[in-house]
Amino acid sequence: MPLLRNGSVFPLWNTDRFGYRPGDMPIYSSIPFYLGVRDGIAHGILYDNPFRAEFDFSARMRSALSYMSEGGIDGGELRYYVIPGPGLDSTLARYTRLTGRTQLPPRWSLGYHQSRYSYFPDTTVENLAREFRRRDIPADVIHLDIHYMNGYRDFTFDPERFPQPKRLLDTLAAEGFKVVTIVDPGLKVDSAWSVYRDGLTRGAYITLPDGSPYVGIVWPGRSVFPDFSRASVRAWWGAQHQALIDVGVRGVWDDMNEPASFGGQTIPDIVQFEGDGHPGTHLEYHNQYGTLMARATFDGFHRLRPERRPFVITRAAYAGVQRYATVWTGDNNSTWDHLRISIPMILGLGLSGIPFAGSDIGGFNGSPGAELYSRWLQSATLVPFMRTHAMVGTPRREPWSYGPQYERANRATIRLRYQMMPALYTAYFQHTQKGSPVVRPVFWNALTDSAALGTDDEYILGDHLLVAPVVDSGATSRRVYLPAGHWYRVGSGEAYDGGRLVTVQAPDALNDGNDTTGLRGLPVFARAGAVIPSQAVVSYEGQRRLDTLSIDIYPGSATSELYEDAGDGYAYQRGEYRRTTFTTSGAPLLSMTLAQTGSYAGASSFKVTIHDVSRPQRTLVDGRPVRTDYDSARRELRFVMPGRARLLQIE
Ligand code: NOJ
Repeated sequence: MPLLRNGSVFPLWNTDRFGYRPGDMPIYSSIPFYLGVRDGIAHGILYDNPFRAEFDFSARMRSALSYMSEGGIDGGELRYYVIPGPGLDSTLARYTRLTGRTQLPPRWSLGYHQSRYSYFPDTTVENLAREFRRRDIPADVIHLDIHYMNGYRDFTFDPERFPQPKRLLDTLAAEGFKVVTIVDPGLKVDSAWSVYRDGLTRGAYITLPDGSPYVGIVWPGRSVFPDFSRASVRAWWGAQHQALIDVGVRGVWDDMNEPASFGGQTIPDIVQFEGDGHPGTHLEYHNQYGTLMARATFDGFHRLRPERRPFVITRAAYAGVQRYATVWTGDNNSTWDHLRISIPMILGLGLSGIPFAGSDIGGFNGSPGAELYSRWLQSATLVPFMRTHAMVGTPRREPWSYGPQYERANRATIRLRYQMMPALYTAYFQHTQKGSPVVRPVFWNALTDSAALGTDDEYILGDHLLVAPVVDSGATSRRVYLPAGHWYRVGSGEAYDGGRLVTVQAPDALNDGNDTTGLRGLPVFARAGAVIPSQAVVSYEGQRRLDTLSIDIYPGSATSELYEDAGDGYAYQRGEYRRTTFTTSGAPLLSMTLAQTGSYAGASSFKVTIHDVSRPQRTLVDGRPVRTDYDSARRELRFVMPGRARLLQIE
């Protein structure tokens, strides 16, 4: 689905669509918000209406854009918000002021996640973790899919597959692994099970018009569904997570929450929700169901473990879900066209206010070949949420599953993500301030550039890093559209003028097996003037304190940011963060100012590389000369400067 929706009909009805094809609609999420761009000016429209609905972006009638809904809130009133631009940045800032923003996630959740349906028993999970460390491939998170549960009962562990979950999770934690468990909304009808009984006593389930709980069929067989439209039910649901937290579970993956029901895509329209004084049918609450479940989960974690930042992933989503959860793009396929559409899908979520998003790497449904898997990893390595996940019954899919040559390439790709963590984390911070997506389309600041408006197989991480993954089978180079300005290829340092298409080399692992940077097969470009922060590779986030960060400076004039804090917890809300604003000016020689706020110590020094620079006569930090190394072949100047420096001058 291209980002330009012109000419398409867009149904809004969250749908579990296993193995969807490109263009299939609807799928898992419905955000009744769109951005319009005319003559370079953006605006946004939000229809504040969760009912089943449809957008028609001039598909049936050429110059008409229409919105139709099957019901209206509060007696049918049409309530919508017109959000003025002029830029995408100001529109998104206002839209997310209205619907909310993602809080800073725990930094470990930006690491690499490994998942499949399902890793079991416990020894398999332990071996998996050990392999990552043995092979020196960084990873932070392992996901347990539905087979960990006892008979698919939420909040339980299978006594044979996982007899000692706490011991397992403690062992994994000692190796730096965090475990995320799946939780489905359908609760097994089982009068011997306390959670089911408790919910029944409380009247916590959605009902048929006669008042009896609605029973659908999902993984556990006959199942009932919590009425997340009620605050008391959300609180009850949230409290159930204590059982997972007690054994050391660090985050939750809310699945099947469209809600999905077997033998029909979802539950019947007549099912009743109480809605805390706003009763309604499933027609009204369906699209909100996943978001309300994520809210219950997020708030539950927050209450039960107030000192840590919650981590929740959800499949179904509605406007505002970003306050509670990460969204992934559901059951995609192991094909090249699914790799390609993952980029506009993630960008589209970001433009809908949801910055924390990703796709199942390699495609859920199927088995990718070595080349597709490693290209998908590359494409995802600078995407907000990075997780490999695979369907039950498919061959194992880990970064080392395709032999030594691909393992080397995949290791380099994942290491690159860990190196770029300061840039990724800073982009999340920017979202909290301005509502900007973590990854942005190339037309983000180029709304009059028709070539940029038509490009959706590239993305820009934060303000200044353009990523152009290879998404074609057999390709060893690709055409990249660079928006106006001047750009540098990260790694090689080659310079390009923007406002045009360029062709760059991007060999895959078979043609270039020795690249340890991850950057020869993945074209990444930095904008002139950018200051790009990075760090040493670690096996997992927080493995050790990194006292030195690297910054790469590309000549030109721009403003860049770096945000640092403890990576978890809420001390940052009391000022324990450090926000550095770098302002560069001038090329070929250069000056840079650094302005800092916050009381967090941050890195005590920066290892600086200035690219594309002539050998300077003097390099001054806060007015004093520093010792430098100059590499004349690469035209790079390297030196170390204190993390609290204020002024850099190259003369
Ligand atoms: C559907 C989800 O989309 C998928 O990711 C998961 O593996 C299966 N449910 C099983 O839980």
